[in-house]
Amino acid sequence: MKKINVAVIGTGWCGGIRAETCAASPFVNELHIAEIKQERLQEVAAKTKPATATTNYRTLLENKTIDAVMISTTPEPTHYPIAKESMLAGKHVFLEKPMALELWEAEELIALSRSKGLRFTIGYSQRFNPKFAIVKRSIDDGSIGQPISALVSRHITRNLGKKIGGRVKLSPAAMEATHDIDFVLWCLAPRKPVRVYAQEVRKIMGEQFDVPDCVSIIVTMDDGTVFTICAGWVLPPAYPNFSSTWIEMVGTEGAILVDDTHRDVYLTTMQKGIQFPISTMPGEKVAHVYAGPMEAETIHFLECIALDRQPLVTAEHAKMVMRVYQAADLSAETGNPIDLTAETIPSAKRVTTLA
Ligand SMILES: NC(=O)c1ccc[n+]([C@@H]2O[C@H](COP(=O)([O-])OP(=O)(O)OC[C@H]3O[C@@H](n4cnc5c(N)ncnc54)[C@H](O)[C@@H]3O)[C@@H](O)[C@H]2O)c1
Repeated sequence: MKKINVAVIGTGWCGGIRAETCAASPFVNELHIAEIKQERLQEVAAKTKPATATTNYRTLLENKTIDAVMISTTPEPTHYPIAKESMLAGKHVFLEKPMALELWEAEELIALSRSKGLRFTIGYSQRFNPKFAIVKRSIDDGSIGQPISALVSRHITRNLGKKIGGRVKLSPAAMEATHDIDFVLWCLAPRKPVRVYAQEVRKIMGEQFDVPDCVSIIVTMDDGTVFTICAGWVLPPAYPNFSSTWIEMVGTEGAILVDDTHRDVYLTTMQKGIQFPISTMPGEKVAHVYAGPMEAETIHFLECIALDRQPLVTAEHAKMVMRVYQAADLSAETGNPIDLTAETIPSAKRVTTLA
């Protein structure tokens, strides 16, 4: 079996999960990690025993024996430059969403990966949630007939909203609904999105962070199928990083309804009251088993690099997702529907600034 050397750059919440998964994978010969926070670097190094642990990711890019990098840094404006440098250094790249801030950056990364023959994929982890995969299968195998409409409601806690809104002025469309846009467009392929209308609400997060509380988006596909996504980040504190998702996919011959609201495991204690464990979007390790999609997604990437396969999420698809959430931002800003068949779509004003 071919083994690979892999680096994780940014070992915070998600990067920590990626590093632990890499350390446990039989496909990985050497793990290398980079993290600018010394304390966190040491914490993850103690768990994963990497070949090298550094505060300077460039030393990893200079290491010719490293095949692939997983980039899990924040704030989000770091994604494009680190991905570009990694590709220029000849590394295959797994990049957390968002793949870039601007469409031209995404296009440049796609062109660079192609010209250098590198694998390039984006972290749309929910595709590795079996509940989401069965929605896709129900369309692909004809169970529910031709799709008519889809609805996804996704809400996460205010703690997470503050964490994200406190570091970058990206909207819930770009940071939350992006998972669902990816998912529904994946389910509905080869249909393409042609029109986007969105509205935002600002009652809580606006004053402190200048970001909306939630966004409601309607997307029309080229065959007339329509889908709606409501995504927000103002749920009261519950279990750390709790997320709640509800999906309805309705077709000509049936429907599939998914409850991923994470209320099925209920822990109540004298000290902490009611908690909902294993309820985060990436998931978490529970003793010998992993609950949630991020471990499976990480293993999939490692397999694709070791076995020279195309990862499930293509960069071209991620670019289409980006066009949709950017159009949603613009629609919310202008109050008008956005025609995606237009040659160019202007950017919404707020999307590129740091908090
Ligand atoms: N797929 C999912 O379900 C999911 C869930 C949460 C977050 N995300 C995405 O993953 C990314 C990471 O999110 P997070 O919650 O883990 O963030 P985080 O802030 O917990 O971790 C990011 C880490 O990157 C480090 N970092 C920043 N610049 C660096 C550099 N130059 N070199 C090395 N390390 C550097 C930071 O010190 C921090 O520890 C975000 O962009 C987010 O959009 C995806």
